[in-house]
Amino acid sequence: SASDPDLVARARAAKEKLGDKVFVLGHHYQRDEVIQFADVTGDSFKLARDAAARPEAEYIVFCGVHFMAESADILTSDDQKVVLPDLAAGCSMADMATAEQVAECWDVLTEAGIAEQVVPVSYMNSSADIKAFTGKHGGTICTSSNAKRALDWAFEQGEKVLFLPDQHLGRNTAVRDMGMSLEDCVVYNPHKPNGGLSAQELRGAKMILWRGHCSVHGRFSLDSVNDVRERIPGVNVLVHPECKHEVVAAADYVGSTEYIIKALEAAPAGSKWAIGTELNLVRRLANRFAPEGKEIVFLDKTVCFCSTMNRIDLPHLVWALESLAEGTLVNRIEVDKETEAFAKLALERMLALP
Ligand code: 13P
Ligand code: SF4
Repeated sequence: SASDPDLVARARAAKEKLGDKVFVLGHHYQRDEVIQFADVTGDSFKLARDAAARPEAEYIVFCGVHFMAESADILTSDDQKVVLPDLAAGCSMADMATAEQVAECWDVLTEAGIAEQVVPVSYMNSSADIKAFTGKHGGTICTSSNAKRALDWAFEQGEKVLFLPDQHLGRNTAVRDMGMSLEDCVVYNPHKPNGGLSAQELRGAKMILWRGHCSVHGRFSLDSVNDVRERIPGVNVLVHPECKHEVVAAADYVGSTEYIIKALEAAPAGSKWAIGTELNLVRRLANRFAPEGKEIVFLDKTVCFCSTMNRIDLPHLVWALESLAEGTLVNRIEVDKETEAFAKLALERMLALP
């Protein structure tokens, strides 16, 4: 459908008809056929910040995944309606922490006598329920672009952090950016009694990492890094912090999707790069920078797209825009008032980080 001129024309016409009534946000992992219609593109931090940038827009069409659309709903006014073009665009990582599991974990921390010392820090990639839990217990949200600042802030509030739900971002930030050791981190497994941890292990830890991960970034391995270095001498390896610790430790640069784009913009002609993040973005960057003589390859050819990001395709976008242009509200993402109040507290703490 990428080159279907009929669909492109229909999307353009519907968007034109809606005018200022619609504001389209697009995450960097979106398909080319979709991202061309975004008014703003960004990493998850930038999209959370910019969601509220157009208060006059009645509809915010979010081309991304469910937790991003929820966050946009939380951060915009009640009369702005957030639309996710395909409701099946979830995130497997966000699904790895449910409200019941996290409540149970808090009971375990309470029984171990450490709950008062623990500050929750939740990755943006989590449901509104988890964000509300975080706000209720004095914690903050973070993204891959401000995780260190969020942890600095959290360790000013308490002695320990419960990091949800991405163990890799938590571990990578603690060890790579904060000078902690791997031994300072324990992993709480929600599928085991007491998280699979003894009270003593919990008391000895600084970082309690939730056992969640990204199914896409989790597939890059140390072999991926070693192989590409062998294949392309002088290559710069640049990866997203959702990759495993051993991958991040072996990489040259680590950062969010926005960081990755900026790094490649600043890269000199003739430089070579292997990128460990979602394939839509890597392909787009490879095409964009090839004319400038920057060679950009995907870190591991056996890794594929984020299937849920890819759910948003041009037919779904056209359907959403045309429905809105006809006055029919479809696929609205709306967080209930109580959840919203506490989740907003946590998101606002993030937006206020220095
Ligand atoms: P960024 O915040 O770096 O864009 O990452 C979002 C995401 O879902 C990565 O998998
Ligand atoms: Fe979720 Fe991973 Fe897809 Fe990002 S890339 S939306 S973390 S599954």
